[in-house]
Amino acid sequence: MEVKAYKDDIKKFKGKSIVLLVYEETTKTVGRLSKGLANRVKKVLQVESFKGKEGEILKVPTVGLVVDFVYVAGLGKKEKVNEDTYRRVVGNIVRRLKKDKVDSALIITPRRGDLNREITKAITEGVILGDYTFDKYKKKEEEFKIKEVLIYKGDEEAIRFGKIFAEAQNYARDLVNEPGNVINPITLAEEAQKLAKEYRLECKVYDEKEIQEMGMMALYSVGKGSVNPPRLIHLVYKPEGTPKEKIVLVGKGLTFDSGGLNIKPGDYMRNMKMDKSGACAVLGIMRAIAQLKPEVEVHGIVGAAENMPSGNAYRPDDVIRAKNGKYIEIDNTDAEGRVTMADTLSYASELKPDKIIDMATLTGACMVALGEYTAGLFTNASDFAQEFKEIAKKTGERVWELPMDDERLRKKIKNTVADVLNTGGRYGGAITAAMFLEEFVGKGIKWIHLDIAGPAWSKEDYAYYTKGGTGFGVRTCLEYIMKVSDNV
Ligand code: BES
Ligand code: MN
Ligand code: ZN
Repeated sequence: MEVKAYKDDIKKFKGKSIVLLVYEETTKTVGRLSKGLANRVKKVLQVESFKGKEGEILKVPTVGLVVDFVYVAGLGKKEKVNEDTYRRVVGNIVRRLKKDKVDSALIITPRRGDLNREITKAITEGVILGDYTFDKYKKKEEEFKIKEVLIYKGDEEAIRFGKIFAEAQNYARDLVNEPGNVINPITLAEEAQKLAKEYRLECKVYDEKEIQEMGMMALYSVGKGSVNPPRLIHLVYKPEGTPKEKIVLVGKGLTFDSGGLNIKPGDYMRNMKMDKSGACAVLGIMRAIAQLKPEVEVHGIVGAAENMPSGNAYRPDDVIRAKNGKYIEIDNTDAEGRVTMADTLSYASELKPDKIIDMATLTGACMVALGEYTAGLFTNASDFAQEFKEIAKKTGERVWELPMDDERLRKKIKNTVADVLNTGGRYGGAITAAMFLEEFVGKGIKWIHLDIAGPAWSKEDYAYYTKGGTGFGVRTCLEYIMKVSDNV
C-alpha cells in the first residue's frame, strides 16, 4: 500500500473513495467537496442523523459523482481531538475500506491549509497500523489489498517518518503473533541477526554456554528447563558524530511462559507466546532507529528464554546468583520475567548508559491495577518519567505511574534467605516486581520500567489495533529517542 500527500484540487481526484473527517455537530468539511457531491452527502448525513461522534462512520454511495463512495467519519468534539484521535479514527476507517473492498481513498481533515507534521504523521500511522493483519497461516481465496491512501495537504516528510514508526510497530506485532513453535530463543536471536544485517546494526548473540560464563545464571536458570536453550541478544546503533546520550532498551523475551514447575492452568497459559512482547518492541525500535539515524547511541538488549517444566527446570527454593552478584531466592517459577531481567538489567547497567528503558509483560497484577489497556510506569527519575509521559499522551500509548516509595512493601521481597525473593505476595504485585528489577539497575542510571502485560496484547479489534500483538511501546520509545536527538 502507498501512502502519499495529495496537493491537487479535490475535484481532480480519481480514486474510488473520499474519506471526510468531521468534528462532532459540524459538517464544514463537507463544503470542500464539489457542489453535487456536497449536496448529496449533506442530505444523507441529515437523513441518517449523523452526529460525528468518534467511531461513527457513514458510507454514502456517490457513483457517477467524481468518486464511487464518500465515507464520513466522526472525530468527536473539536476541543477533545488530539493526534491520537486521528490515528484511531483513520485506523478504523482503513479497516472498513478493506471490508468494503475499496482500494483507494483520499483523506480530508477539517483543518484549514496545509496539515501540520504531527497530524500528517498520526494519519499515516493510523493507515499503516489499521491495515495490519496476521494471516500468513490462513488459506486465502483471493486477497484484497488497499492500493493507495492519499492525505489531503499532508506533509511529505512527516509521511516518511510515520511509515517508519508504524512499520516498526507492525514488525513487532508480527513477531509477537508468531507462536512458540516458530519463535523460540534461538530463532528470535536469528531474527535479530537478520535485522542487524539488513539495517546495518551491530549484533552480538551469546549462547547458553557464554551466558553461564558471563555469570548470568538467572537468565540461564529460567531457560534451562526447555530443550530450546536461552540466548542473550545485544543490538547496537551508533550515530556518526558524538552521541548526545546513550540509551539502553531492555525487553523481556519469554518466547513462551508455561509457568515452569509452578505451571499455569490452561486458561492462563493461552496466548503466552505474547510474553516476548517487550523483546519484540525492542527489535522494532532498533529497526526504526537504524532508519531514523538519531544523534543518540541506542542499545537493544533481550534475554530470550522459554519457561518450561522439566527434569532440568529451575525450582521453587533455588538460590541463584545474578550477574551483578546479588542472590535471588525463587519462590515461584512463574515469576520468571523478573529473574531473566535481573541479568539483562545488570548487563545493560555495565554499558554505563545515561538511561535505561525496559519493557516487560511482567505481571497480571498490573492489569488488575490499571486495566488491560494501560501500561504501568515505574521509575527512579521523575524528570525522565515526566517527559516520557508527555510523549505517551501524544502517541496514545497509555501509561500510568505507580509508586516505588513504599518501603514497607519493599520488605516483602527481602523476606528471604538470599538478597531478594522473586515474589512479593498478592497485593501490589506490579510494584514489588518493579522493586525487584530496581535491585539490578546500576547506581546513577535513570531508569523507566514499563509493565506492558495488559496493552501488549489486544483481545479484540480496536481503532488501529487488530486482535493479537499490538507492538505497544514502540512508538513512544521512538518519539522519546528522537526528542533527545533533536534537543541541543
Ligand atoms: N508473563 C506473566 C505475566 C502476564 C500475565 C503477562 C498475563 C500477560 C498476561 C508473568 O511471567 C507471570 O506469570 N507473572 C505472575 C507473577 C506471580 C507468580 C507472582 C502473575 O502475574 O501471576
Ligand atoms: Mn510467568
Ligand atoms: Zn512471564
